[in-house]
Amino acid sequence: MAVSGTNSTVLLTGETGTGKTLIARVVHALSKRGGPFIELNCAAIPENLMESEIFGYEKGAFTGAVAAKKGKFELASGGSIFLDEVSEMSHALQAKFLKVLEGGAVERLGGTVTQKIDARVICASNRDLQKESTDGKFRNDLYFRLNVFPINIPPLRTRKSHFAQLCRYLTASISKRIGKNVLDISEAAIETLMSHDWPGNMRELQNVLERLIIISKDGIIAPSKAIHGQPDAKDTLNLSEIERRAIETALNRTGGSRKETAAVLGISLRNLQYKIKEYGLI
Ligand SMILES: Nc1ncnc2c1ncn2[C@@H]1O[C@H](COP(=O)(O)OP(=O)(O)OP(=O)(O)O)[C@@H](O)[C@H]1O
Ligand SMILES: [Mg+2]
Repeated sequence: MAVSGTNSTVLLTGETGTGKTLIARVVHALSKRGGPFIELNCAAIPENLMESEIFGYEKGAFTGAVAAKKGKFELASGGSIFLDEVSEMSHALQAKFLKVLEGGAVERLGGTVTQKIDARVICASNRDLQKESTDGKFRNDLYFRLNVFPINIPPLRTRKSHFAQLCRYLTASISKRIGKNVLDISEAAIETLMSHDWPGNMRELQNVLERLIIISKDGIIAPSKAIHGQPDAKDTLNLSEIERRAIETALNRTGGSRKETAAVLGISLRNLQYKIKEYGLI
């Protein structure tokens, strides 16, 4: 990545699960900055604690500040600071954050000493920050300051040309991780997966593939109706599908005896034989 070798601010945008956190780590790793990768999720920390988390504080800066604490900017010195869900910062904090970025220095709350910032700033948001700034929800000036090197990660449903390759790669790596020897994923399984919308993007695909790998037989992932956990309404209402499953289950339970299966299902042997052939259950 061209931007990795620089110290420029990177702004990652994309839906949930598209890989923003992963790419932030890659940008940091490729930058060869020896320092740490410090992460802060702006949505996970209460508003009143955010400022002290980012900038740190001196002893006695506020009630309860019994000892001095380093802020994330200081901790990330020599490395990268990753501010996730940056759109969730309050307007007041956005203003302070911008001031720090422009001035290139931080000061702990209640402190008097300013320290030069030596942290590469990487931000992420699953919102459209340009729109948020046009709508007045995110400060315009901060948006421009962060938007030095924007990387927008497209949703999985629009990455059809890479989809098969991605499924094969993930199948191999997940199989290795969980210690199951899966050799391949069938074309038909990839087709089935491709027709899904993937609102959870890469995270959802990973989870679904892991489930398919666990239930796979003979080292191959075959197309499965149950890939998304719950069978969808279409399947549940499809009578022939219900019939096929009932016959399959009964055949399994009776150890393949057609006579017994016909009796269990309450149909004639001839009818059963016809249906077995129709559904290709032989
Ligand atoms: N290109 C990729 N190849 C392999 N795995 C990937 C890829 N992109 C993302 N992943 C995996 O998908 C999962 C989700 O990625 P990540 O956590 O980076 O998403 P995110 O965009 O930060 O999501 P959120 O907005 O919910 O924080 C992770 O397990 C990550 O390792
Ligand atoms: Mg993330």
